[in-house]
Amino acid sequence: MTKLVVDVDTGIDDSLALVFLLASPDADIVGIASTAGNVGVAQVAANNLAWLDVCQAPPIEVAVGSPVPLVIPLRTTEDTHGPQGIGFAELPPSGRAVSDRSAADMWADLVRSNPGEVTGLVTGPLTNLALALRIEPDLPHLLQRLVVMGGAFNYAGNTTPTTEWNISVDPEAAKVVFDAFSVVPPERRPIVCALDITERIEMRSEHLERLGARAGSSPAERVDATDPQHARSAASNPVVRHLSDAVRFYMTFHRQQGLGHISHMHDPFAAAVALDPSLVATRPATVDVELAGTLTRGMTVADWAGMWGRPPNVDIACDTNPDAFFDLLIERVGDFAARLYPPEGARP
Ligand code: RIB
Ligand code: CA
Repeated sequence: MTKLVVDVDTGIDDSLALVFLLASPDADIVGIASTAGNVGVAQVAANNLAWLDVCQAPPIEVAVGSPVPLVIPLRTTEDTHGPQGIGFAELPPSGRAVSDRSAADMWADLVRSNPGEVTGLVTGPLTNLALALRIEPDLPHLLQRLVVMGGAFNYAGNTTPTTEWNISVDPEAAKVVFDAFSVVPPERRPIVCALDITERIEMRSEHLERLGARAGSSPAERVDATDPQHARSAASNPVVRHLSDAVRFYMTFHRQQGLGHISHMHDPFAAAVALDPSLVATRPATVDVELAGTLTRGMTVADWAGMWGRPPNVDIACDTNPDAFFDLLIERVGDFAARLYPPEGARP
């Protein structure tokens, strides 16, 4: 069982990461930190609560983070994730309440009360983890492991030519975090899942079809490039229906970017790595973040060869088997969806 603090900017792929973790018997989510990024922080928190309802989850703390990055104004990306950050999905508003402590305080309190037991997963900007480090400087030693979805190393950015979104929203926070984790022993270096590897995780329509079939949902789930704009899922299973409507928006965005009718599932991949680091091959490197470059600000720079004379501070995920990941995702989420909403049951 892995105790997890999950820090998300929910987000379409963050949504799938949350559902995957809720579907995973080896995941014990002890707290969800809502971070401003894809959409504003209040919307991120509302999305997190709404997904907990869809998944009939037990009470799990959802804390609200800073409304803005450490230094620069917030930039959101509704064109990528939709006006509410969950694509075309329309989730019933939740009656659950957010935590009365901030995301940063929750981070600090949970690592103090579970020393050496919590794995941190960040699939959004690193704002609230950086704020937590100010509250608890010993956090890197108190955390069992950290997995970050972010950055681009020998690879083009998706936000500027050199910069990946999570880092670009709050480069100062990213530098604080990478610097702070320079002190941990090699076996507990943060695992960084950057675009180099997460853009190999290409969800296609057949993955959704397999997910629907595994969940016993009907009719067969398809999201085709030729579908009309107003097409929405008719899946009998609410988990399949809502995820499909979310992913449909993401696939349209990727197609419009010339990437094909696919969607890069960055965050659920990082979530799977948090549960099982053996899913990736990694290489140690010293990583720092460019803050002053006029063209390269927010770039994550990896020193693979020790040229800076500084010891490695991260393990960069370099290789994986995307098909094995999708098999795991479809099996876990499909079986979970079927348990929650049995095929023979009425359509809630
Ligand atoms: O660059 C991809 C990352 O930025 C993902 O985490 C996505 O959800 C966005 O936050
Ligand atoms: Ca995200």
